Formats: sequence, structure tokens, C-alpha cells
Amino acid sequence: MPTLDNACRVVVLISGSGSNLQALIDGQIAGELPIRIEAVISNQPDVYGIERAQKHNIPTHVLAHKDYPDRASFDDALASAIDSYQPTLVVLAGFMRILTPEFVRHYTGRMLNIHPSLLPKYQGLHTHQRALDNKDEAHGVSVHFVTEELDGGPIIIQAIVPILEGDTVDTLSRRVQAQEHIIYPMAVDWFAKERLTIKEDSVSLDNELLPKTGHQIDSRTT
Ligand code: GRF
Repeated sequence: MPTLDNACRVVVLISGSGSNLQALIDGQIAGELPIRIEAVISNQPDVYGIERAQKHNIPTHVLAHKDYPDRASFDDALASAIDSYQPTLVVLAGFMRILTPEFVRHYTGRMLNIHPSLLPKYQGLHTHQRALDNKDEAHGVSVHFVTEELDGGPIIIQAIVPILEGDTVDTLSRRVQAQEHIIYPMAVDWFAKERLTIKEDSVSLDNELLPKTGHQIDSRTT
């Protein structure tokens, strides 16, 4: 796979279909993202994301958390696998595991996550259903730096999507995912170009402090 010179070394962690991983692979191939995906690691065997990586000859590992006696030993093994690639950035792309504080601290300022809600709303699971149940008018997705608080770290970017009459979890999640595939590559691009800095609980882009919501893209108006 072609990569730009001085590409940012990235390890991507997945648990599933890997459509966000695909968006990053596509960006790398197109020469639009100054990254090199060094490895893809899944905690679930036989997921489509692994196939996506293999198609592009990206090294893959399956580390099944069920094979480890506890969370700490799994996270130790995971960190060893990640660090063997000496990444500059770790990207959680649908990685469905709660990580230990030690693990998170080890990657402070160099690990990103994507969460399908307009954080701080709806941390945790079933975000689309919760937005529908609450009759929200808008929903969305956030990319944030990972901290010890689950889905709670400083936000880099959010995309807002409308909730439409008759929406189901399926239709709404598809609308959100389309935005995921735009904003995750954007955030990774900014990181790779060293345009992001964390100041206390907020993120700066090109030394301009972003709002607590991060940079916002409103797909209702574009
Ligand atoms: C995405 O919806 C993401 O927001 C959430 O998990 C899902 C991963 O999807 N954290 P994919 O595996 O990238 O297709």
C-alpha cells in the first residue's frame, strides 16, 4: 500500500466490521492521510475488519480477551502487541472493551476513540436507541482523546445528524456512520500533522482552543 514519507505510525484496534478502519485505509491509499497503518488488532476472531486489513497486507492479530484470566492481563498483552509496532497513534475503531486505567495512561495523548453520540450525551452503549427514546431532534458522533473516564476524554470533532420522522436504530445508525467515515479520518489527519494539542480538558487545533464539543460539522445544514 503506498504511503507518504514520514507517515504517522498507526495501530488500529477493532472488534467488528471495521468500516471506520476502511475509511482510514482508503485515506492512506489515496495519499490523503499521512499515516501508515502498521497493524490491526481485534479482540474478536473472525470479524470482517480483519479481512479488510488482510486484503491490504496489513499485519493482523487476534487477541481474544476470553483467553486471559482478567482485564489487567489482557491489557498487558494488548499493550505488548501494540508497542511492538512502535505506533505514534492508537486508533480505537469500534473496539468494544473497557480498558484499565494503567493501559489508558500508557497511551495518554496518543489514543483516539469514536463514539456514536454527541458527547457528553449518551456515554456507553445503545446510543441510537436512547436518542430515539428521548425523542431528540438531533444525534451524532464524536471523536475524542481517550482518558480514564469511559467516553469522556477531550473532544476533537463532532458531526451532528438529524433524527427524521420514522427513524429506526438501523436508519439512524447508517446516517451516523456516514459521518463517522468523514470525521475520523479528519481527526487522524490533524493528529498526524501534529495540529492537535490537549490543554487540560480541551483540544486546540493549530493553537486555537476548540469548544468543549470539539470542531462541529452540522450535516443538517450542509
Ligand atoms: C461505530 O458505530 C463506532 O461509532 C462505534 O462502533 C462502531 C464501529 O463500526 N464505536 P465499524 O466496526 O467501524 O464498522
